[in-house]
Amino acid sequence: MSLLIKHGTVVTATDLYQGDVFIERDTITALGTALAMPADRVIDATGRYVIPGGIDCHTHLDMPFGGTTSADDFESGTVAAAFGGTTSIVDFAIQYKGQTLHHAWETWMKKAEGKAAIDYGFHMIITDLDAAVEDEMDALVRQGVTSFKLFMAYPGVFMQDDATIFRAMLRTGGNGGTICMHAENGGVIDVLVKRALAEGKTAPKYHALTRPARAEAEATHRAIALAEMADVPVYIVHLSAAEALEMVTEARDRGLPAYAETCPQYLFLSYDNYEEPGFEGAKYVMSPPLRPRATQDRLWRGLASNDLQAISTDHCPFCMKEQKTLGRDDFSKIPNGAPGIETRMSLVYDGGVRTGRISLNRWVELTSTSPAKIFGLFPRKGTIAPGSDADIVIFNPDAKTTLSAATLHMKVDYNPYEGREVTGVSETVISRGQVIVENGVFTGRAGAGEFVKRQSRS
Ligand code: URP
Ligand code: ZN
Ligand code: ZN
Repeated sequence: MSLLIKHGTVVTATDLYQGDVFIERDTITALGTALAMPADRVIDATGRYVIPGGIDCHTHLDMPFGGTTSADDFESGTVAAAFGGTTSIVDFAIQYKGQTLHHAWETWMKKAEGKAAIDYGFHMIITDLDAAVEDEMDALVRQGVTSFKLFMAYPGVFMQDDATIFRAMLRTGGNGGTICMHAENGGVIDVLVKRALAEGKTAPKYHALTRPARAEAEATHRAIALAEMADVPVYIVHLSAAEALEMVTEARDRGLPAYAETCPQYLFLSYDNYEEPGFEGAKYVMSPPLRPRATQDRLWRGLASNDLQAISTDHCPFCMKEQKTLGRDDFSKIPNGAPGIETRMSLVYDGGVRTGRISLNRWVELTSTSPAKIFGLFPRKGTIAPGSDADIVIFNPDAKTTLSAATLHMKVDYNPYEGREVTGVSETVISRGQVIVENGVFTGRAGAGEFVKRQSRS
């Protein structure tokens, strides 16, 4: 099977040209300005951008959390991702106390196998570190699970103390992996939550008011300092606060391998959403929380200046009905997380490129190339080049769509951006040479996605 995409504007992190892309089976085999080879199928991409498929390196599909399970499994979540122009995800497998890392990996592989419609990898969440688990970390890196997520928040669930974090970092520094960090001071937050509840403050907005920006900044600083002492790259996940960004900027100015992502929710939503009437604020209960509106500009500047290197989604959807309502009388029981896997590429194009905050190349870099490089997928993924997987999105920069839970494909009963019109739509989506979304229809197959063995640093 061969496919020729003609007359599009090819955009990578570094290139922008009118050109054609030739695909044989699952691989890009030629690029040119006027390719004339015969192909089984020709797609005319006139007036469209031809970009590498989006890579979302922070998703939580089928994840037990907060007394329930995230609403999208690997089928619905990856089909929604495909509609939104994302062709690879890196999800989080969880080692629960007493379990081996390999058991956790196998568990998450079983969740994905036969269901995922796009390619996937895993970060490993470590909650129980002993000598045997440390040995397993090395084995996992060799097997292509090359990043470990640690938590400085959620005491009693995921949170680890500094000594454990440091041991995991030392091991990762030696085995060529990367540390992902949820950076919020969980001890401080716990005290503030208990005090708020004792004062009868139970509404969703207290989720945000008990998670100060300084608690994120302190943990970000600590995570980077621990990583510096352990000599390991650290990637701060879901950075939301300007104060935390300052910590990353300072570290990068000193030349440290400190990286950070932010997410669309922190660029387009704000604390004001928690003030929506009734229980509506629960839609936005996530950690870290939404910040004051003024933070958005600071994050956009960080994205433009490369103090932030990636935009992922932290897709962790819970329905308002029956899931978010677990915390109707107590904000601390509202499952943390929100949907976003489907809306990332359009939101960032509309709110970033069209407004002039970031360039077209930077859009591709932040949503595909840079995550691919940081997490060992590049150059197989994250670019359009001969030899790369044919993961390609044909993006219509002029098409408009109105975001709504009723028309999006995520299995969740609300959308945080309900009613927002965006310009720029992923029209045709190709995963390893197969057209999986076309004319608004999913043409792929659940189970066609494959586990991707990621590379380590060494
Ligand atoms: O609120 C969030 N972010 N839920 C998902 C779990 C996490 O901390 O990433
Ligand atoms: Zn987190
Ligand atoms: Zn997350």
